[in-house]
Amino acid sequence: MKLKIKLKVGRNIRKRTRKVIMVNVEKFVEEAIQEIKEKVGEGKAIIALSGGVDSSVCTVLAYKAIGERLIPVFVDTGLMREGEPERVREIFGKMNLVFVDAKDEFFKALEGIIDPEEKRKVVGELFVRIFERVAEEHKADYLIQGTIYPDIIESQGGIKSHHNVGGFPLHYTFQDVIEPLRELYKDEVREVARYLGLPDEISERMPFPGPGLAVRIVGEVTPEKVEVVRRATKIVEDELKDYPKWQAFAALIGKATGVKGDIRVYGYIIAIRAVESRDGMTADPIQIDYEKLRKMALRITGEIPEVARVVYDITPKPPATIEYE
Ligand code: XMP
Repeated sequence: MKLKIKLKVGRNIRKRTRKVIMVNVEKFVEEAIQEIKEKVGEGKAIIALSGGVDSSVCTVLAYKAIGERLIPVFVDTGLMREGEPERVREIFGKMNLVFVDAKDEFFKALEGIIDPEEKRKVVGELFVRIFERVAEEHKADYLIQGTIYPDIIESQGGIKSHHNVGGFPLHYTFQDVIEPLRELYKDEVREVARYLGLPDEISERMPFPGPGLAVRIVGEVTPEKVEVVRRATKIVEDELKDYPKWQAFAALIGKATGVKGDIRVYGYIIAIRAVESRDGMTADPIQIDYEKLRKMALRITGEIPEVARVVYDITPKPPATIEYE
């Protein structure tokens, strides 16, 4: 396996403004397939497949480019939403899908870490080490990633290390990292997804950060907190499914005193985050009727015994970011 040292992933992009829209989906798809073909040559590539729209689009493009020489890798970090690993298996199981159960590894690596950027770096680093392991087993020299333009801009701007850019280690053993979507915004990726015939549940899927639920837990990540935020997320997603939005989710932001059945409890605080946005660079909380908010608070505290309090986050981006870390 060759050792190559690169300084920055996702650097070779043209600076673009929001006005420049992908001119033609068909042409984009053709060129992306061609780029992958040229870069991978007769080699093999692995692709980081999470089941989100970006990595799914990349997987289909790469499959069209190099067929069976593509090895999609799904890493079960233990930080995914409910049912996600199972759905990926169902949708992409016909490809050479490699499924890595890395739950214990991620929880161990995250032990004691409270700094948000360090958390992102730890997750990014572990992801790449796992991909390298799989690549070595399968003799693949290339890594394909679904990095999109805003990931690169936010990481370069020092706002946060998006998992597949700033959170990506500087040293890796791949011959090259290929990022076919590096010049696209999310709405353009969705357009490509529809063009490629991916199911709606993927093309219209809400964005989900690479480090997963880890960045929706303020402070140390533990399996218990992940389970709590996963269950709360399911309730928020269910209740807000008919609301137009960019994203709606739950985050675990601390602890507070409460009373359940006459007994004092010291439980978790869940924040509901639901925003509208065009490209994730700015965002506004959506208006949710009071009865709906109340219902979510009662369901979350009622169905999840560890939760003592629910709040609705009404901060736009800026000054807040969409995710908590
Ligand atoms: P923030 O929190 O920076 O998020 O306002 C903007 C958008 O990006 C998503 N996000 C990520 N996506 N890897 C990703 O692929 C990441 O590390 C990551 N962090 C945030 C976030 O969900 C929102 O839609």
